[in-house]
This record gives sequence, structure tokens and C-alpha cells, in this order.
Amino acid sequence: MDIERRGPAYGAAETLLVEVTGGVLLVTINRPDVRNAINSQVQRDLRSVLEAARADEEVGAVVLTGAGEKAFIAGADISQVAGYSKATALDSDLQRLFDLVEDFPKPTIAAVNGYALGGGCELAMACDIRIASATARLGLPETALSILPGAGGTQRLGRLVGTGRAIEMVLTGRMVDAAEALRIGLVTEVTDPAALIDTARATAATILARGPLAIRLAKLVIRAGMDADQRTGQVVERLAQAVLYESADKAEGTAAFLGKRVPRFTGR
Ligand code: COA
Repeated sequence: MDIERRGPAYGAAETLLVEVTGGVLLVTINRPDVRNAINSQVQRDLRSVLEAARADEEVGAVVLTGAGEKAFIAGADISQVAGYSKATALDSDLQRLFDLVEDFPKPTIAAVNGYALGGGCELAMACDIRIASATARLGLPETALSILPGAGGTQRLGRLVGTGRAIEMVLTGRMVDAAEALRIGLVTEVTDPAALIDTARATAATILARGPLAIRLAKLVIRAGMDADQRTGQVVERLAQAVLYESADKAEGTAAFLGKRVPRFTGR
């Protein structure tokens, strides 16, 4: 772990704790007194940490979690939401921040350690993988405030759990526990609370051992395909495979398998 070496780009984040271990950047949203609610400072900090992580060649994957035992993130900071206007929604800073997470070129894992509500659930849904502690509860309760889950929530929830469940969850604001979240496909795995971060790191390590270019393109192609008809998605798949077939990493991966050795990928 070498937090200092990560330099000012990471260190400047007021509301986040950041550390890098074995190529995995762990980002902890650190406002436990307000259940890690996302205010404008968290948004700025997350944006700058992601930009730094994008450029940092030693970071291969990002794990996001919340400080304390109670919450991952209990949503947008309601004391700020109270002052939001039409312009705030139209500028949609939070929606765009979560798009940045979804489009991030390196794998992202949400380690959901407690309440993931509103923007917290939306951030988790923008990540590639969601691992929940057995104590986690997820939901989109915004309609109680007479607003919508407006940072991608109305769109991403249905894609993960189906339209019917998404409408029921948003209209009632009902939270699901970790077991139900696993059953409906909102999270991919449930762990003991104490094992959550290690599990997320282990999943990241599994991904990092594979061809980095293939990982990047797999994520891109699957996501592009979700927004396209199948035939168009398959054309994108074919083009990505064409890039990979002539890559140095494909030569290395196949040679390593045939030579019964561990591959040394370079991302080229
Ligand atoms: N924005 C601002 N403050 C929040 C917050 C949020 N989204 N979520 C929690 N807090 C604050 C509470 O106001 C409280 O502050 P206080 O100590 O000054 O009274 C503190 O965090 C602890 O919250 P509390 O409700 O007492 O904790 P809890 O563990 O009993 O309940 C929640 C946790 C997450 C279930 C509950 O706080 C909650 O429902 N939060 C709002 C969720 C929401 O509507 N999110 C969508 C926002 S758009």
C-alpha cells in the first residue's frame, strides 16, 4: 500500500479515502455522520480521483465503498437537494458523474457495505460489479421526496432487474435486503460484512490477471450491445475481436497457454 506515492491528485480529495494495493484503487466515501451522503464536494472529489485513476498506469481496477458500518451511500445530500432547481437537473452533474463511472476504462466494483439508497444505489448500478455485505439494503426512495432517481436510476434499475420490479421499487420506494438483491440480479454476490473488501479485491485481482485489452473491450461491447439491437451488437463484437486477434496480448495469452506458463500481458 503506497498512498503517499499516489500524489496530490488523490490526496486532494477531502471527502474520500484512497489507497492502492496490488493495482486496485480502493475509494471510500468518507462522510459517515450523514451516511456518506453525496454532496457537491463528494462529486468533485470523485470526479478528480477517477480522472487521476484513469491516467495512473498502476491502477488496474477501482473498488468503491462507504465509511463506517451503516451505509455505502444514503443518496444525494438532502440538505443540498432541498435547494436544487430545474437548472441543476438539466445540468445533471450527478448523472454525468455516474456515466463517467459506467464508461470508466478500467473495471469498477461497488462494495456495498450498508444502505445504498438513491444516488448510492445509482452509483452502485453504474459500476461493473456489485458485491454486497449481508447487511446491505438497496433502494431508490426518492419518490418520498417527490423527486425521481435522476442520476440514471430510472434507466439502469430496469436493465438490471426488469421493468416490472424497477417500477415497483421506484413507486413504493421499497428497499431490498442483500438476499433479495442477489435473487433479482441487483448485486452479483453477498458476503459476510468482514469479508466484503477482501472479496472485492479478490474479484478485482481475478480480473487483473486476464488480458487488460480484452477486459476493456468486453465491458465496452457488452454495454454498447445493451443499447443496440443484437445484430448491431454482434458487429461491434466482431470489430473488437478483430482488434484483439491482432494484439500482442493475444499472441502472449495463446503462447503462454500452449507453453504451460503464466502470461505477461502489456495491454497492447
Ligand atoms: N442526506 C443528508 N443527510 C442524511 C442523508 C441524506 N441522504 N441520509 C442520512 N442523513 C443524515 C441524517 O439526517 C442524520 O443526521 P443527524 O445525525 O444530523 O440527524 C444522519 O445522517 C443519520 O441518519 P439517521 O436517519 O439517523 O440514520 P439511520 O441509520 O437510522 O437511517 C437511513 C439511515 C439511510 C435509512 C436514513 O438516514 C435515510 O432514509 N436517509 C435518506 C435516504 C434517501 O432518501 N436518499 C435519497 C436522497 S435523494
